[in-house]
Amino acid sequence: MLKATNIVKYFTEPEKFQVLKGVSFDVDRGEFLSIIGKSGCGKSTLLYILSTMDTDYEGTMEIKGQKLTGLKQNELAAFRNENLGFVFQFHYLLPEFTAIQNVMMPALKLAKYSKEEIEHRAIEKLKLVGMEDYALKHANKLSGGQQQRVAIARALINDPAVIMGDEPTGNLDKANSQRVFEIFKQLATDNKQTIITVTHDPDFANGSDRIIEMEDGNIIGTHFPNGKH
Ligand SMILES: Nc1ncnc2c1ncn2[C@@H]1O[C@H](COP(=O)(O)OP(=O)(O)O)[C@@H](O)[C@H]1O
Ligand SMILES: [Mg+2]
Repeated sequence: MLKATNIVKYFTEPEKFQVLKGVSFDVDRGEFLSIIGKSGCGKSTLLYILSTMDTDYEGTMEIKGQKLTGLKQNELAAFRNENLGFVFQFHYLLPEFTAIQNVMMPALKLAKYSKEEIEHRAIEKLKLVGMEDYALKHANKLSGGQQQRVAIARALINDPAVIMGDEPTGNLDKANSQRVFEIFKQLATDNKQTIITVTHDPDFANGSDRIIEMEDGNIIGTHFPNGKH
């Protein structure tokens, strides 16, 4: 589903510094992968490259067999909207819009379905995360855990093949973290969507299919916590 080959990345400010030192791995369809490692080891930088938002790197990256390295910004934006979903530690919902309006937005942009169909799909996604009763609430009236679930529904609206998260439970209490974990697990198992998440949460990582451990811009270990190879 995703293949990263020898990803190398430098930052030049305040001085030239190699943040990724040749990272390679592939991820299967329906696999739930966690990336762990100490703060500053390059996890977010790597995820930003995998998400196609950062194009300033060496090496190559493919998703669904399509080479994305070297594509133009507008081609990448179109690819992302159709194939990738993102969940961050802070949700970035638009506060003045309702939950359902936030969820519908990426689908309206993709314009593959009618507005009625998109609304119907948005309700389905809100149901999946247990938020259908809050569809008409403004995002800024929801709790942190509820907002994060709406953000997940929004990430799912275009049925992305790959869902990426950067500390998706980093801002949540234990009960909400568990809930988000269960949603991700279900997406991988039932829908065969591929999940790639950076996490600091050991329970979250240990529940996933594979853990990649990073240190200093390198992968230093791979574990299969549930014995699923
Ligand atoms: N835009 C940037 N410019 C310069 N250095 C950066 C930038 N973003 C991150 N870094 C540095 O790169 C290293 C890796 O950062 P990051 O990928 O955010 O780590 P992690 O997500 O593992 O905590 C850190 O030393 C960080 O300070
Ligand atoms: Mg980070």
